[in-house]
Amino acid sequence: MAASEMEGEVAGKEREQAEKKPRKRNRQEFAPFGNYRCYYGYRVGQELDEDPRLKVLKREWFEGKDCLDIGCNNGLVTIYMAKRFCCRSILGIDIDSNRIEDAHWHLRKTVRMQCAGKSDSKTLQSGAEERPDNDAQELGMSKDRETRKCTKNHSLSEKRDLFEIVSFRRENFVLAWTDAHESYDTILCLSVTKWIHLNWGDEGLITLFSKIWQLLRQGGIFILEAQPWRSYDKNRLVSETTAANYDKIMYPPEDFQDILLDKIGFRTVEDLTSGLSGTKAGFNRPVLAFRK
Ligand SMILES: C[S@@+](CC[C@H](N)C(=O)[O-])C[C@H]1O[C@@H](n2cnc3c(N)ncnc32)[C@H](O)[C@@H]1O
Repeated sequence: MAASEMEGEVAGKEREQAEKKPRKRNRQEFAPFGNYRCYYGYRVGQELDEDPRLKVLKREWFEGKDCLDIGCNNGLVTIYMAKRFCCRSILGIDIDSNRIEDAHWHLRKTVRMQCAGKSDSKTLQSGAEERPDNDAQELGMSKDRETRKCTKNHSLSEKRDLFEIVSFRRENFVLAWTDAHESYDTILCLSVTKWIHLNWGDEGLITLFSKIWQLLRQGGIFILEAQPWRSYDKNRLVSETTAANYDKIMYPPEDFQDILLDKIGFRTVEDLTSGLSGTKAGFNRPVLAFRK
């Protein structure tokens, strides 16, 4: 399958399911914001450990740092980052309250398993406590192995449980007011730009980048995985708004790097794409790290 078709394919599957159960589902479940319910099931497979994007991220960007994950979906990547890299804090935000509810559910489950001393992957394999949304994707990481990699100061020991580190908030990042006291060392924006671009146009995209800049501390890192322009086509008709915005878009994703460096003001960019391997068909997108 062509790369550009995959997100359309995901939407297609959601729509197919919706058509089979017309009474139980509504329009919102066609995921107009990319707010897919089973995103990681489609994208990664059984183990989040296998997500190639997470392998190219550097520990130093997260360990002991305050982090923000924009468009966190069901929170699995957010929780994974907290555990793998021992963030000081990480906040996941998403426009969809159902996804935030899923994220809280996953967080509670992870903490419960930590308390019980179980490794997450074991629980997954046994099928215990699976969220009834068929999202088989779980935190496929051995807690003990990953936690041991954290330096002593930042280790996720029993002293600090995940509830203190990970939080989730429902928010439309484009339209929400920025709290002047909020700031972060590292901000993730993975596979979100297309949805913001289609729903809020070029203006929404520039607002996204400007707010990220404002929220980052000096020297902070912005990690961007943008969907390519060819993938917009499949999703442009999810709503009247997206159809209208699609026709007016002036800044294709190929220009994002220049916009971030020349207009927004990031100092440097590091292209992490060459380190990606084993990406599922349709999800091979560049991953860039910008420094403020
Ligand atoms: C395709 S998913 C990507 C999930 C995750 N970042 C990843 O790559 O693993 C896009 C997510 O962005 C969220 N989203 C879209 N527009 C948003 C906005 N304006 N503010 C916050 N979240 C948004 C959607 O609800 C969805 O969960």
